[in-house]
Amino acid sequence: MQNSHLQEFAQLDGVSFSKNEHGHITVKIENASATAEFSIFGAHLLSFTPKNQEDLFWVSKKAIFNNTKAIRGGMPICWPWFNAHPSDSTKPAHGFARISEWELVHITHLDENKTEVIFKLNDSEKTQALWPHAFGIQLKFIINSKLEARFTVTNTDTKAFTYATALHSYFNVQDISKTQVLGLDALNYINTVGGTRAKEVQQGPVSISQEVDRIYLDTPTTLTIKSPSRTIAIASKNTQTTVVWNPWIEKAKSMADFGDDEYKEMICVENCNIEHDQVTLDTGLSHTMIIKFSAI
Ligand code: BG6
Repeated sequence: MQNSHLQEFAQLDGVSFSKNEHGHITVKIENASATAEFSIFGAHLLSFTPKNQEDLFWVSKKAIFNNTKAIRGGMPICWPWFNAHPSDSTKPAHGFARISEWELVHITHLDENKTEVIFKLNDSEKTQALWPHAFGIQLKFIINSKLEARFTVTNTDTKAFTYATALHSYFNVQDISKTQVLGLDALNYINTVGGTRAKEVQQGPVSISQEVDRIYLDTPTTLTIKSPSRTIAIASKNTQTTVVWNPWIEKAKSMADFGDDEYKEMICVENCNIEHDQVTLDTGLSHTMIIKFSAI
């Protein structure tokens, strides 16, 4: 049975598991450099806290951990489509990876400062009903003073397939009114607020003073989020689209798993392969998106 071997990992130094009343399992991993926490459901990163720092990630106080609903916060994996399914709105938003039970393959302390964690998910009858392709996806994390996430998709089918991905990070910022995203100046973006797709051009840093839902195109390999107490750096490879999202007041109120005022303390900056940056993979081939998160 998948994940029946979790007890073995619980023997490792700094590794502990907990389970809630819904059978939802989280694993906390601590080494000399940092602490990170994951949900097995969704292979979902919930927190990453380098020593003597605040958590880089944000999770709503109203997040639901019931192995059914996607978790509001941390880093959901949106795959193999982004937002609504392109042709069937009855399929789950943002794909099925974030609402699937992954296998925790291993946790290895590489040294006292560095721990590797690997999750994997293969196609099954359930995924084939939603997306008719054979695949293997793997999410590898390296917990150090920085956090590295490597998301690899392998085509194990007999024909090519095309997919979209978003590593949908929710960052913890003290005060959204004093937060800026740098690195997107002068780039084209698609403004999707209100279901429109207006083409606009970014002027200067991104500041948030209303609902923001934007797909930035041809984005660079380094972005930074400047907030009053610190700067979060996001360094990436093999991703050229970036979504910036903050629901602001009305949308926050409409979401059951999002506190009314919590829009003030979070921002999503999502490393994606969406729009013209979707990936087409031939049989037997793999593609890896790599992201490094750090506080500077
Ligand atoms: C963002 C999208 O990535 O995710 C938004 O750009 C969407 O349009 C948001 O509202 C949250 O989506 P969900 O499915 O987690 O509520």
